[in-house]
Order: sequence, then structure tokens, then C-alpha cells
Amino acid sequence: MYKWTMFAVFCAACLLGLSILFTTIPEQGSHEEAAPPVDVPLNVEAAVAVYEQSCLMCHGDQLKGGGGPAISDVGARLDAQQIARKIENGGGGMPGFKNDLSSEQIVNLSKWLSEKK
Ligand code: HEC
Repeated sequence: MYKWTMFAVFCAACLLGLSILFTTIPEQGSHEEAAPPVDVPLNVEAAVAVYEQSCLMCHGDQLKGGGGPAISDVGARLDAQQIARKIENGGGGMPGFKNDLSSEQIVNLSKWLSEKK
């Protein structure tokens, strides 16, 4: 009889352990999800407006290039994250826009450009 009681206690302890495991692991995951940069649904109108104001003078009408390279198919070369980094930091003759554009604007613009391929 004693054996069965110990077995029951053992099972209860296992279940408790498992339930703690399963409730704490997803919690850690959701903590990590809170950290990454803003994600916004693509708003083409807003992206075009920012493009015309900040990028058009170098990347040209219809993204065809000018002072800067053509980016009409930039999505074939870079993903949205790489484009966002380029917009934030610039480099190679392009100014960075970290201080001029909000993260939302940069993410939105990057999404829009990453679909150009
Ligand atoms: C002063 C001119 C200038 C402005 C303004 C400018 N760019 Fe650029 N951009 C460049 C130049 C020059 C390059 C090439 C840099 C290089 O080769 O690393 C470039 C490169 C890029 C690239 C990478 C292209 C590739 O094929 O690797 C992207 C994407 C880009 N620009 C997006 C933008 C966006 C979006 C804006 C507006 C927020 C912007 N640029 C504003 C000059 C500019």
C-alpha cells in the first residue's frame, strides 16, 4: 500500500514539474517577442510619401536611380531588415536616417522596398 502512495506522490510531482516547465517556457518566448523592433502593417501611401520626401532626390522617380543607385528591384538583393539597416545607417554616399525618420516609418518603407523585385 505504501508503495502506491509513493507512486501517486511521484506522479503528482512529475505532473507539477511538467506543468511548470510548460508554463515557464512559452513565457520566456513571449518575453523575447516583446523585444524586437516595431512591426507595422505595410502602408504604401505612407511609404511613398516618405520616399518622395527623403529618398527621391537620390534614388529618383520610380526608384530608377540618379545620385544613388536604382532600387526598383532592391527586394531581389536585400530583405526588409537589410534595407532598414541601410536606411538607418546609410553609408557609401548615402546619409543615415536614424534621426530623421521614426522606426515605424523606416520599417514601413523597408517593407515596401523589399517587395520591389
Ligand atoms: C544623398 C543621396 C541619397 C539619399 C537621400 C538616399 N540614398 Fe539610398 N543610397 C544612396 C547611395 C549613393 C547608395 C549606394 C550606397 C552603397 O553602395 O553602399 C544608396 C543605397 C541605398 C540602398 C541599397 C541599394 C542596394 O542595392 O544595395 C537602399 C535600399 C537605399 N539606398 C534606400 C534609400 C532610402 C529608402 C532612402 C530614403 C529614406 C534613401 N536611400 C536616401 C544615396 C542616397
